[in-house]
Amino acid sequence: VLDDVCETMGVTLTRFMNEVAMLNPELKELTTIFGAIDTACKAISNEVKRSQLPSSETLGYQGAVNAQGEDQKKLDVITNDLLKRALRFTGRLGVLASEEEDTPVDVIGRSTGKSGSLEIVLDETTDYVVCFDPLDGSSNVDAGIPTGTIIGIFEHDETCEIDFDNIGEDEAAEQEARCLANTLQPGTNLVAAAYCLYSSSTFLTLTLGNGVYMFTLDETIGEFILAKPNVRIPESSSIYSFNEANLDYWDEPMREVVERWREGTGRSGVRFSSRYIGSMVGDVHRTLMYGGVFGYPGDTKNPNGKLRLLYEGAPMAFIMEQAGGLATTGTQRVMEITPEVVHQRVPVIMGSKNDVIEVIECYKTAA
Ligand code: AHG
Ligand code: MN
Ligand code: MN
Ligand code: MN
Repeated sequence: VLDDVCETMGVTLTRFMNEVAMLNPELKELTTIFGAIDTACKAISNEVKRSQLPSSETLGYQGAVNAQGEDQKKLDVITNDLLKRALRFTGRLGVLASEEEDTPVDVIGRSTGKSGSLEIVLDETTDYVVCFDPLDGSSNVDAGIPTGTIIGIFEHDETCEIDFDNIGEDEAAEQEARCLANTLQPGTNLVAAAYCLYSSSTFLTLTLGNGVYMFTLDETIGEFILAKPNVRIPESSSIYSFNEANLDYWDEPMREVVERWREGTGRSGVRFSSRYIGSMVGDVHRTLMYGGVFGYPGDTKNPNGKLRLLYEGAPMAFIMEQAGGLATTGTQRVMEITPEVVHQRVPVIMGSKNDVIEVIECYKTAA
């Protein structure tokens, strides 16, 4: 149905989402969520840009550590707050999970005001679970190197309204835990995913499960304009994108494939080149545009690699697959993994179809 949307160029994100909603009434509430994402990403883009001015006080460390033990940058915290606030006030958010929040944050309106929740009145329509990485590549941000935002959207379990006034505390706590567990869904349940890249331009790329659409921010009018409808990633490539300094620790099959690509003895017989920014959004964006393989494989020190499943691996895998590419752990489709905990890590190898297949085959042979 998305094929009928926006035949012409010069379409804003707002209009795109409105047309989607008109053709797919069941996606109407998603429009509200994307309205919040639209605004938040523009605000983040501004923050990231302005952080480089000499008068800025937003660079450097916050002085706190997040749930994964990373030192938070000030901008990690600022961008997290921006997104959280924008999404909360849509009234369509059931629960959110973020790299910068220790546990899922329950934002459904509560009669008791527990968990510091806001009093938001919900009606009968769909609510969503939004998982995000507010500032991806934040270690690069002080140097003005591209960063991004990653967002995954699931539907929220409709049975998740807790009647605090009429049930006991234990039962309420149990139900609350079940509600928060709404974030633990496999990528195959994603109804939408998006990333925003803060680079030479600000790009917003999204999928609603029917192809990939890329918007560029026109700063003169402050709107995201559809620049590339139906993005397709080249099927084969000659670029790989890994932190090669970890090569000695990687899984053996991964080492083997990269070795072949370097020598030009892989499937395609082409010698590969290497590109690595160290910002997943930037590296994945380039991979979508030029073709290639981006990865953060498992290694002996970190068998699940570094990237987080819920707000890095799964949403980016969804976009990659929707653009005709693949995303694997080496042995499993990233989209099919059900997380057990919010900040669970996952090995990720994603990109051009034929090259990722080569990796999968190498893992199979080694098994
Ligand atoms: P974040 O900045 O959100 O914590 O993400 C960090 C990521 C990701 O953007 C990138 O692909 C990877 O970490 C880079 O890790 P290395 O520095 O180990 O290469
Ligand atoms: Mn981080
Ligand atoms: Mn990240
Ligand atoms: Mn981050």
